Amino acid sequence: MQKEDLVYFRRWFFEYVNRLFSPDSFIQENLELKIEHTERVCENILLLAKSTKISEKECMLAEAIALFHDLGRFEQFIKYKTFRDSESENHAILGVKILNKERVLSRLSGEEENLILKAIEYHNLMEIPENVETCSKLYFFSRLIRDADKIDILRLASEEYAEEGCRNPALELYLPDAQGYSEPIVSEILNNRMAKVGDMKNRNDVKLLRLSWIFDINFPATYSLLKEYGYLEAIMASLPETKETGILRRHFENYLNDIESETRYGNSKT
Ligand SMILES: [Fe+2]
Repeated sequence: MQKEDLVYFRRWFFEYVNRLFSPDSFIQENLELKIEHTERVCENILLLAKSTKISEKECMLAEAIALFHDLGRFEQFIKYKTFRDSESENHAILGVKILNKERVLSRLSGEEENLILKAIEYHNLMEIPENVETCSKLYFFSRLIRDADKIDILRLASEEYAEEGCRNPALELYLPDAQGYSEPIVSEILNNRMAKVGDMKNRNDVKLLRLSWIFDINFPATYSLLKEYGYLEAIMASLPETKETGILRRHFENYLNDIESETRYGNSKT
């Protein structure tokens, strides 16, 4: 992949999203949110890629994955007015279909094209499929996009909760503002596992599910960026003050402290 390819991809992306302009302000606002998200994920993936000291060519591949990872979100929101895949369709697969139909990546080698498409396909799965070899390039880039994406969704969530007056129901997947937490979500967190989207019942569960992503972070640089930006603290602070919240908050803090000391003493999982 060459620099001209990336320039072409960026131009194609912006022409594509501009073509989808909607006169409905609710739809347009959410499309713009995803354009901004895409640009931030491109920035995040470069920060993470550089922390791993990969080549310049590989950094460009990473950026192309970030640029197209949520391509399916635009058509998804226009068609279904939701970002919830279970009530519409899998936005990662939709993005892959659009890239194939428009032959956007045909200027690349078959190997690079396949790598980009697969990393997009895996970015929103609960886990990277087991048949992907852990020493492969695909495994590396899939982990990179998953981390870069999570950092920005956490930013968006923390900003949204800081401005209670400007709530966007689409970001909270149209769930009610009820009290308490869903028991399966609490249980997954206390076992250091990512919570499942299907278990969310209210707004608090959305917050907890996003916080539970810290159990699926792949690169030490991701933890450092999250700490520097303060997103996790902001989301935690927006949870109601209850005994249960205190337990969960301490659990997250202990987990992050353990990770920090493991990283400091060179014993990180990556
Ligand atoms: Fe996505």
